[in-house]
Amino acid sequence: MKARYDPKQPTPERPSPCVLEEFVADPRTARHWPTAPRLDLSTSRVGLTDASCWLGWEKELDRQEDGVLLENKNAVIYGGGGSVGGAVARAFAREGAKVFLVGRHLATLDKVADEVTAAGGVAETARVDALDEEAVDEHADAVAEKGGGIDVSFNAISHGDVHGTPLVQMPFEDFAQPIMTAMRAQFLTARAAARHMVKRGSGVIMAITATTARMTIPNVGGTGVTFDAIEGLCRQWACELGPLGIRVVWLQTTGLPEAIDDSGNLFPDYGTGKAMTREEIIDWMQEKTMLNRLTSLAEVGSVAAFMASDQASAMTAVAANITCGSVPTR
Ligand SMILES: NC(=O)c1ccc[n+]([C@@H]2O[C@H](COP(=O)([O-])OP(=O)(O)OC[C@H]3O[C@@H](n4cnc5c(N)ncnc54)[C@H](OP(=O)(O)O)[C@@H]3O)[C@@H](O)[C@H]2O)c1
Repeated sequence: MKARYDPKQPTPERPSPCVLEEFVADPRTARHWPTAPRLDLSTSRVGLTDASCWLGWEKELDRQEDGVLLENKNAVIYGGGGSVGGAVARAFAREGAKVFLVGRHLATLDKVADEVTAAGGVAETARVDALDEEAVDEHADAVAEKGGGIDVSFNAISHGDVHGTPLVQMPFEDFAQPIMTAMRAQFLTARAAARHMVKRGSGVIMAITATTARMTIPNVGGTGVTFDAIEGLCRQWACELGPLGIRVVWLQTTGLPEAIDDSGNLFPDYGTGKAMTREEIIDWMQEKTMLNRLTSLAEVGSVAAFMASDQASAMTAVAANITCGSVPTR
């Protein structure tokens, strides 16, 4: 049964308390409520009194009827305690996935896991270094055994980029650091997931890059090359895994204001001739977009969930361009 709120009706039809009780008790439905709706059975009234609540409730029922995007999927998120990984974890969990959060420090992972579970989702954490081949394989094996397989693998680890020094003055090690880190981690995590995905002939492997993969900016050391390399590696995986039923996709985003250091430190000049404050660097990035704004973490999460879902089943070897028009796709 579905109760519909019609703003033209002064007294909207309301569901019986028992229907609402079932609705709230159902874990599939309850997961989507940040706080459980208030029931007052004694008066047969519900504490959802205003129109927005009713509309929201109706929307949730529609979602349940249509099915959420990642229901019953197991998703491993490397770097799940970080800004991007956390946003992806929250969105995946909201869409019904069980999320397995991986990083080197449990404190940040547990914080995200607590948020996911508080919102009704399911999350587990594990301390694993994505550069450690044996540890990555063992973790993937354990997830697959416990969950019956791996449906999605998202790598959102940081790479130790060094910015602010022209290449001509940069030690090779600083330049190579993000490239080596990204290539090793992306390769090992994709391979670990793929070995399980091939058994079921399905799965999605995901990564994240930025405008820097397409827009050449001075003084970013190896970052642009790293993102280019991640995209090239994704294409290579996609070509080999496509015939086995596995998709490989990535998100290409702007800089993410919510993830930018707000400690007051100045940022490099990036060719502008003057070191920039946080506000200046945000303005500088924003000016390069068509939408005159930067991508939000919520948008990263939502698009990641879509790309991971069967709604995007024809998409592989491609980026979801969420750069607000900074680097138009041809
Ligand atoms: N922030 C942006 O504006 C932006 C924009 C576009 C693309 N990106 C890319 O998105 C990725 C994530 O960025 P972010 O802003 O979310 O960074 P972040 O907040 O620093 O998070 C990165 C996470 O990766 C984990 N990590 C690092 N090395 C690891 C390793 N070897 N094994 C396992 N986990 C590891 C870290 O946790 P532990 O230290 O506990 O391991 C951390 O939680 C980066 O590759 C970045 O280049 C970021």
